[in-house]
Amino acid sequence: MNNYDESTYGEQIAEFYDEFYGEYDPASIELLASLPGSGPALELGIGTGRIALPLYERGVHVEGIDASEAMVSKMRAKPKGAEIEVHSGSFAEFKIDKRFRLIYVVFKLSSLLCCFL
Ligand SMILES: C[S@@+](CC[C@H](N)C(=O)[O-])C[C@H]1O[C@@H](n2cnc3c(N)ncnc32)[C@H](O)[C@@H]1O
Repeated sequence: MNNYDESTYGEQIAEFYDEFYGEYDPASIELLASLPGSGPALELGIGTGRIALPLYERGVHVEGIDASEAMVSKMRAKPKGAEIEVHSGSFAEFKIDKRFRLIYVVFKLSSLLCCFL
């Protein structure tokens, strides 16, 4: 596919993403919240904050990486969405001079991948 890169999906779906996929299972938030202890968490592809925001509300210090400005701006427009630090770019290449207790990527709980550092 021509002209498709890591930002394309988000840029194209941002307007409708929460309408289609905005729900989440509260058990997934509880599971993620139980993993990093008091350490910080990093979500790869944080998107509109569907998972990161309830996790943040649950008391986890969460940051994100995302390639799509359109997706992130949807999160920024939500209550507390501007409080979450987001690093712009592709998580396939991103270098960050910080350590996280939990790095995760999630869409639905069935595709949850967690990594402890
Ligand atoms: C299906 S959405 C999931 C968003 C969020 N994790 C959730 O569960 O609602 C995928 C997100 O990953 C981002 N993304 C996809 N590939 C990426 C990459 N290589 N680097 C950074 N972000 C990427 C997209 O822009 C989009 O915001």
